[in-house]
Amino acid sequence: MTGPATTPAPWWRDAVVYEVYPRSFADAAPDGAPDGVGDLAGVRERIPYLQRLGVDAVWLTPFYVSPLADGGYDVADPRRVDPVLGDAAGFAALVADLHGAGLRLIVDLVPNHTSAEHPWFRAALAGDPAARERYRFVDGTPDTPPNDWESVFGGPAWTWSEQAGAWYLHLFDPSQPDLDWRNPDVVAEGQDVLRFWLDAGVDGVRIDVAHGLLKADGLPARTPESLAAGAAAPPEFAHVRAHPGAWNQPEVLDVWRSWRSLADTYAGERLLVGEVFLPELDDIAQYVAPGLLHQAFDFRVQACGFDAAELRATIAPALDAFGDRAAWVLSNHDLVRHATRYGGGERGVRRGLAVTTLLAGLPGALYLYQGEELGLEQAEVPPARWQDPQGRRGGRSRDGARTPMPWTADADHGWPGGSWLPFGEVAGRSAAEQDAASGTLAAYRRLLALRRRLRELPPEGAPAWLDTPAGVCGLRRRLGGIEVGVLLNTADQAVRVPLDVTDVLIASDGEPLVGEGVVTLPAESGAWVRLRP
Ligand code: NOJ
Repeated sequence: MTGPATTPAPWWRDAVVYEVYPRSFADAAPDGAPDGVGDLAGVRERIPYLQRLGVDAVWLTPFYVSPLADGGYDVADPRRVDPVLGDAAGFAALVADLHGAGLRLIVDLVPNHTSAEHPWFRAALAGDPAARERYRFVDGTPDTPPNDWESVFGGPAWTWSEQAGAWYLHLFDPSQPDLDWRNPDVVAEGQDVLRFWLDAGVDGVRIDVAHGLLKADGLPARTPESLAAGAAAPPEFAHVRAHPGAWNQPEVLDVWRSWRSLADTYAGERLLVGEVFLPELDDIAQYVAPGLLHQAFDFRVQACGFDAAELRATIAPALDAFGDRAAWVLSNHDLVRHATRYGGGERGVRRGLAVTTLLAGLPGALYLYQGEELGLEQAEVPPARWQDPQGRRGGRSRDGARTPMPWTADADHGWPGGSWLPFGEVAGRSAAEQDAASGTLAAYRRLLALRRRLRELPPEGAPAWLDTPAGVCGLRRRLGGIEVGVLLNTADQAVRVPLDVTDVLIASDGEPLVGEGVVTLPAESGAWVRLRP
């Protein structure tokens, strides 16, 4: 008699997903001279780099037709590749090449809003009543907006349209009008766009502002309490705290339930991962309840300082809530690059690698952002070259996280056609210079290779937090009969941790010293060790 059949865990549970910001990844210019803008053919060319890095999947941020008012998150045609980036055939070739190389592909869908150049919004402005119903137009007079909501990018969330004789809502840029998700056309279109990309063979979608879409009835103004909560919140959570009527409405979960039902009709466990930019774990967890999204980013972790106690206090309840459906993320195209958040320079890079070593050792998926494996820092982009509407509207420009990948050490860094954003300070950080056994790139390759080997071992039971001295946090995991300790020391000195270690599997910096019943972790480092069972 054979034992009970075990279903293999779906691919996304322990995947390493690499975010590609296509305009800044690689400029291949298949049919002409390089134009200084990365493209889909560039991603295809760099598949060997991604394979060698050891990632499992690529998440491609929007590459659709867009006037680029918000880096492509202002979508004018959600089914068409922007001609600057490629075409449908190029996309199909990318899917085929990635799959041929054993990599998956996730695309980014933007359901909360369209571009003002989208045919629906143009028709709405031109007076088509059905089109107008698909957005949040409110009649009134040009002197009084419907409420006091502000845009995430700064300034009012309402713009008066002379042409329409009404206000329209845009939680982001005025060129990104919000859709009305109570309108059946909008709901149907959302499903259809999802179906379109699943039919095109993608392995999943990342859903932009998955905590958005629906707004509270009556569009209630901010209150003194919500304003105070916004002022007290970390900057990235300020808007959502100050505008409770604009985010996280319970009905949005119905949208994700219907998307999940559709995704589940496809073979191969197509992934739905939501950008759920909320500060409360309980709120985030609602989005991954049974029948809803598979994963939701937990941005509370990136908001932590380089502090073992704070990281543990943030990660422990997340592990309880998500288990191996967690989606760990330290950096993306919106955030200040983590090497900079952690203090910048060699120290910031070292600290970033230490935290990444901890996250990579946890159950769940790990999301990386292009360039972090090179130790890139937030680049200084002169205001005259800012592209990001958030910077132009008085907020923090996100361009410094979106500068092109430095592939080579020479002056053009592998971008012979110039580059749409400057590089910033990348001396010594190019992929070519780091293609050796030392450096951040090599450290990422080693870490991801070890993670691949260990994930072949079936996890036995949930991880358990270790009793660790101040400055250190860590967990014990039992994998296929071996005991692994995943450790982080954020102190600026070496710390002795009482643990019975047999050997060190990997260390982000320096070499932990194994003694009798004690392991000494170098300052500001992460490590995986094998524990005596
Ligand atoms: C989140 C995206 O990551 C960000 O880049 C964009 O500006 C907003 N959503 C609006 O789409």
